[in-house]
Amino acid sequence: MGSDSIVRDPSLAPDGHRKIDWAAEHSPVLNRVRDEYLKDGTFEGLGVGVALPIEAKTAYLTIVLAEAGADVSVASPGPFFVQDDVAAALAERGVTVYASSEADPLEADRELERVLDRVAGGRDAVLIDDRAGLTRLAHTTRKGLLPRIRGSSEETTSGVAKFRAMEREGVLEFPTLAANDARCKYLFDNRYGTGQSAITAIMQNTNLMMGGKRLVVLGYGWCGKGIARYAAGLGARVSVCEVDPVRGLEAYADGFDVLPALDACERGEIFVTATGSTDVLTREHFERMRDGAILANAGGVDVEIDVDGLREASSGSREVRRNVEEFDLEGRKIYLVGRGLVVNLTAGDGHPVEIMDLTFAIQALCAHHLANNGHALENRVHLLPKEIDDEVARIKLDAVGMGVDSLTSEQEEFLAGWRE
Ligand SMILES: NC(=O)c1ccc[n+]([C@@H]2O[C@H](COP(=O)([O-])OP(=O)(O)OC[C@H]3O[C@@H](n4cnc5c(N)ncnc54)[C@H](O)[C@@H]3O)[C@@H](O)[C@H]2O)c1
Repeated sequence: MGSDSIVRDPSLAPDGHRKIDWAAEHSPVLNRVRDEYLKDGTFEGLGVGVALPIEAKTAYLTIVLAEAGADVSVASPGPFFVQDDVAAALAERGVTVYASSEADPLEADRELERVLDRVAGGRDAVLIDDRAGLTRLAHTTRKGLLPRIRGSSEETTSGVAKFRAMEREGVLEFPTLAANDARCKYLFDNRYGTGQSAITAIMQNTNLMMGGKRLVVLGYGWCGKGIARYAAGLGARVSVCEVDPVRGLEAYADGFDVLPALDACERGEIFVTATGSTDVLTREHFERMRDGAILANAGGVDVEIDVDGLREASSGSREVRRNVEEFDLEGRKIYLVGRGLVVNLTAGDGHPVEIMDLTFAIQALCAHHLANNGHALENRVHLLPKEIDDEVARIKLDAVGMGVDSLTSEQEEFLAGWRE
């Protein structure tokens, strides 16, 4: 077992190993990044602290970093994102894991603190963060470790927003790479990954049909676009709610109805939030919804659907299927899938492996970049250099037997100049 790991049940490891092996086999991009870039000695003796949902793809990323010489320690950004069999398997593969699906929010914070203590106590470290969980603690309860942290790389849109807020306030004490903002991340992970896995989670947990349903997507960013596209592809009649008129117009041009949320409530049958904001669906909305409405959140924060408000508005609730809670509102039923937390992770297996292969190739290269250049970067939010993003896309195209052309020097000159 990976040194001082703490997991719920070590005997679950065999199932976890099978899941990790499947992810490893379907990760050609990360495997090539490992072979071509990560084994150059950069990670020897370095601590790498990881806060990501504990499931097979994340596990494989941490194994790859450990194989490259890093002392890797991982915890989950929340207990609902822990697959105990994967945690048990990971602990047997040389990665230190502090994760249990039964932890409460306070214990979950303690697990993240343990990660910081282990990776940055007495040596340099880089962080791979999710919603700035590790970074928040490094700036509050673990300030003493700050000088040891060369930088962190952030996985989510919501996390990058937090880092930008820290930068604005001038409190960020190490540089951050916005891994989320790499094109090979958000164009695929947020769009196709969330699209496929959120819709799959809703269908699997309700066992209801998507075709013909009136589905409302709240937020038409990268995630919302993916959700709308997958639902429409399965025959759902999709409407979009936005606060940004340009994004609303984009949804209209993509063929969807665009309308205010309160109006959408009267016609929708399935509602999926993907805004990263708070109180997107509240009591006001629940009161207008039809009998049998289904709600799910695919955004990265757990306050998009006001679950407390739903509980207060209802006379009672019960679990009607695994991951589906039924609320009774004066005879009308409203169903909440996955507790209002990120539905594809709490009530599903997360993104498809090939999507996370791209995302984690980016994350591994972010960690590598920070390990080598973190000390020279200013304490603010940086983008991953474009060449690294391009290289990941090139490796993926090559892995699927495709490729792109290069500009000739004449074309480069033509594009860079202004004379005819
Ligand atoms: N489920 C997942 O696996 C997954 C994957 C990637 C990102 N995320 C999370 O999903 C959220 C959205 O990410 P994104 O990359 O699409 O962000 P984005 O910034 O591209 O899009 C968010 C959209 O929501 C809109 N919006 C904000 N408040 C709204 C409101 N009250 N009503 C309607 N629309 C509103 C914004 O105008 C914007 O167009 C973030 O929290 C992100 O961290 C989840």
